[in-house]
Amino acid sequence: MKQMQPLKVMTQDNNLSSYEDTYNNFDWKEVEKAFSWYETGKVNAAYEAIDRHAESERRDKVALIYSDANREEQYTFEKMKEQSNRFGNVLRKIGIQKGDRVFVFMPRSPELYFSLFGIIKIGAIVGPLFEAFMEAAVRDRLEDSEAVALVTTPQLLERVPVDELPALKHIILVGAEEENLKENTYSFEKEMSTASPELDIEWVDREDGMIMHYTSGSTGKPKGVFHVHNAMIQHYQTGKWVLDLKGDDIYWCTADPGWVTGTSYGVFAPWLNGATNVIRGGRFSPEDWYGTLEKYGVTVWYSAPTAFRMLMGAGADVVNKFDLSSLRHILSVGEPLNPEVIRWGLETYNRRIHDTWWMTETGGILISNYPCMKMKPGSMGKPFPGIKAAIMDDQGNELPPYQMGNLAIQAPWPSMMRKIWKNEAKYKEYFRIPGWYISGDSAYRDEEGYFWFQGRIDDVINTSGERVGPFEVESKLVEHPAVAEAGVIGKPDPVRGEIIKAFIALRDGYKPSDELKEEIRSFVKKGLAAHASPREIEFKEKLPKTRSGKIMRRVLKAWELDLPTGDLSTMEN
Ligand code: PRX
Repeated sequence: MKQMQPLKVMTQDNNLSSYEDTYNNFDWKEVEKAFSWYETGKVNAAYEAIDRHAESERRDKVALIYSDANREEQYTFEKMKEQSNRFGNVLRKIGIQKGDRVFVFMPRSPELYFSLFGIIKIGAIVGPLFEAFMEAAVRDRLEDSEAVALVTTPQLLERVPVDELPALKHIILVGAEEENLKENTYSFEKEMSTASPELDIEWVDREDGMIMHYTSGSTGKPKGVFHVHNAMIQHYQTGKWVLDLKGDDIYWCTADPGWVTGTSYGVFAPWLNGATNVIRGGRFSPEDWYGTLEKYGVTVWYSAPTAFRMLMGAGADVVNKFDLSSLRHILSVGEPLNPEVIRWGLETYNRRIHDTWWMTETGGILISNYPCMKMKPGSMGKPFPGIKAAIMDDQGNELPPYQMGNLAIQAPWPSMMRKIWKNEAKYKEYFRIPGWYISGDSAYRDEEGYFWFQGRIDDVINTSGERVGPFEVESKLVEHPAVAEAGVIGKPDPVRGEIIKAFIALRDGYKPSDELKEEIRSFVKKGLAAHASPREIEFKEKLPKTRSGKIMRRVLKAWELDLPTGDLSTMEN
């Protein structure tokens, strides 16, 4: 394996003063002492993230700085407490109970965060949905979770097939203009204005459900990854040692709360640590992002490789227009972080970009680069204290340094998923080696204990850091009248990591054309989500299939990349 030379840069002053010492002497039990429930056993993560600060000298500190093209607002911890209390009361009034699933489907806004904490405060389980989801994606998730209530906007409600969702009893609309809403539909603003700012928090068990994120595998529909209140322990401590959050930090995580990064590190870690959290709505543009960093004096910035590559592409002229001297610490997640991006970051921001590795299922950061540690560009870094990572073969034997294999984590850890909603078989697949979680990523370890990401073992696509299941895209494609069969793969791309490429066999009577490609692409965009739409389409007479009729994506990928196709003995003639 290729080995990179360590980047010769001074290490930073870090909350974590020595990685090795801490790793060797770490105990999660000690971390629990930071929480009010350490002695009572009564837990609520929303209380720990918001109310605890509102009841301390941080009461009037700004917790949330929200801005987009039309709004700019700030909320203190006290205000966040009050607004989320009100929303908890709104939910109680309409009959929402502990354990109910309440989904939130809207663009970033302060109301989204009030809702999220209100849901958690009454012991219900929050399910954030990415605002770009179209009808099929929304339906699958609300159907599977049997969500009883949905917080959304009048515009996005058009994508919710309410009549097909028998479990969905209540709709709460943010920004509804009509006076007379349908039965079981409520105006967020109206209900909030009359709700009490005092709330009896539902104290739950640390293993009770808190949040669900749907994520894609290589087969089947997206799965509901279920996380519990206990995850706060890991959100808090990784916030301290990986994000390196300190009392006066202004923190910005660019991820949308529809994805796990936007909640674990866009909500819980910063607020559990009492930081000021910047949320910027709207779309990516280099000017807008640099403007956000400058305007709010962001000190800690968590983003993703595709974004850094786009910023790199935007060039020095743009960055030179802004004063980014407030930046102290930069991090990345979601895809491999190229060494050249780290080098560019060092030249441009005078800071190293720290790679972190984790997954929706892991709930929090497991492997990462710490400011106090020497960095090897291209490596994901080392396991967080309390986490044991290993490289294993399929039988569960640990492999020696430099051998590539399954990246595995010793189970459990505080923020580990506790189930896949209504799918125990899927859950068990992750733990097929007793005592270990098998991530689905392949990696190797070097002799100094650094981990190096090599790829996915399954067919999951990672496009711009967004995880897309080929099955979900294929299912949508075959709904198009012209499409007989479809196979979808990830194709390497210098900016987006991978792009989605679809191979399509047409039905009789349809002819390949550029217009048809465009039509199929927009069909997926409108039906599923823009980020799930194939950027490339190639028509084929026939697709490679197994004798049992499964499309062989592996062969499609080999064709695309000019690689050997491997064993074809199961292929249909
Ligand atoms: O393949 C790995 C890749 O993203 C997958 C997890 O995706 P998701 O559940 O959407 O969570 C993304 C953010 C937590 C992983 O299985 N991935 C994540 N971080 C890295 C990465 N690949 C390479 N390097 C990383 N640092």
